[in-house]
Amino acid sequence: MLAVAVLAAGKGTRMRSAHPKVLQPLAGATLVDWVLRSCEPLDPHRRLLVVGHQAERVQQQVQRRHQHMEFVLQQPQRGTGHGVQQLLQPLGDFTGTLLVLNGDVPLLRSATLRQLVEHHHRSSSAVTILTAHLEEPQGYGRVFCDDRQRVRAVVEDRDCTEEQRRNRLINAGYYCFHWPALAAVLPHLKADNQQGELYLTDAVGLLEPATQLTVADGTEIGGVNDRGQLAACEQVVQQRLRQQWLAAGVSFLDPASCSLSAGTRFGRDVVVEPQTHFRGSNSIGDGCRIGPGALIEDSQLEADVEVTFSVVRQARLARGCTVGPFAHLRPGAVLGEHCKVGNFVEVKNSRLGADVKAGHLSYLGDARLGRGVNVGAGTITANFDGTGKHPTTIGEGSSIGANAVLVAPVTLGRDVTVAAGSTITKDVADDALAVARCRQVEKEAWHKPAAPYRSATTPNRDPADPFSQGQDR
Ligand code: UD1
Ligand code: CA
Repeated sequence: MLAVAVLAAGKGTRMRSAHPKVLQPLAGATLVDWVLRSCEPLDPHRRLLVVGHQAERVQQQVQRRHQHMEFVLQQPQRGTGHGVQQLLQPLGDFTGTLLVLNGDVPLLRSATLRQLVEHHHRSSSAVTILTAHLEEPQGYGRVFCDDRQRVRAVVEDRDCTEEQRRNRLINAGYYCFHWPALAAVLPHLKADNQQGELYLTDAVGLLEPATQLTVADGTEIGGVNDRGQLAACEQVVQQRLRQQWLAAGVSFLDPASCSLSAGTRFGRDVVVEPQTHFRGSNSIGDGCRIGPGALIEDSQLEADVEVTFSVVRQARLARGCTVGPFAHLRPGAVLGEHCKVGNFVEVKNSRLGADVKAGHLSYLGDARLGRGVNVGAGTITANFDGTGKHPTTIGEGSSIGANAVLVAPVTLGRDVTVAAGSTITKDVADDALAVARCRQVEKEAWHKPAAPYRSATTPNRDPADPFSQGQDR
């Protein structure tokens, strides 16, 4: 039986952040999300999360994305060993294997975790730890083995002698314990180290046999203690996501210039052009062409949608829509099939039926547009009266002339025509033409009034002022 415990109680002082470290973002998820996700394929019996610093916030965030979690409070936080001591009560007489994962080591692959557990079971160890050989081991605990490759001790970087520091075999922060064995030594941990904390790594030294599994790919064990390491992890995750989607049939014209999120799913034959970014959860249908220069966040795009130099957030686009260049789809924008939203058009909380065209310079907010509506250049739905927002409804087949202002709340029927330049303040019936502007006045043979006469020989120039241009004609 397998239980997983993730240590997520620390503050993360070195991040210099108001937010708990395990909630720092990494490719659209949080650090702890990545850790929890990596152990899901092992199908653990129990999932425990040790929380402490801003415990409620961490718990709320994690609960939103992960089910069947048990939260264990560590208050105050006196080190990783103290964190695991908090499991003594909830795990009680559990007799299985406990996998302990640091909440700030997000890059580990599930396959490696599986190997760790298998190695642990095969070797019948009391503990198996994951290790790596690093060129730059600074900051990590160093692992010391005997000549049979059994782990003798783990010494934290700051507690190492100069000599010990030269050891490049490091502790990755992933441990597989036989729980009853760990439970027996946990009460004996001592805080006699530089930080005055209870170290989980000291428990490793108290157990026998203690074995280790060295990862082949050192990038997997990158821990996040500061912003530099967070940025480095982001690079690794981005690279992995791009590889994954390239293999799944997505084309990237300039992969390194694009960023992806863990929650973005692509169909087949999607083309992602340069400088295109996906955040949050998106689904991008078959044959879409996104970019160059697009930001897509928490949106659903059906097949064959094109988005060029545009921002799309919390929007839904049915098949065959084209968006941009330079359009802004804001939360609640829902576009029917084959809509065209063109340059400098902003759509917010509005439903557009199929085949709606809003080609240029418009704002559509809190609006409902029926099928086939044509929105002329510069049309604005004036949805805000200074205190509240109001809806605009435009029936199918209607045509709104250029530079019209539709003052909400207002309802236009089907097949309505609005004359260019109109300011519409009243509802318009089906099939009507609405004109709401001043009639053009024409004065025949009209001449400009003559400008007052000034002599060409007496320029009105101030000789004392070098900037004076005078008023010569
Ligand atoms: C730890 C290991 C180190 C290893 C490194 C790998 C110890 C003593 N050291 O060091 O050997 O090389 O990870 O990345 O374990 N946490 C709690 N409660 C606490 C303190 C920490 O839950 O009281 C959590 C943190 O939120 C974090 C994790 O434990 O997710 C690791 O803590 P951190 O302080 O980052 O340990 P390191 O110094 O990196
Ligand atoms: Ca750490």
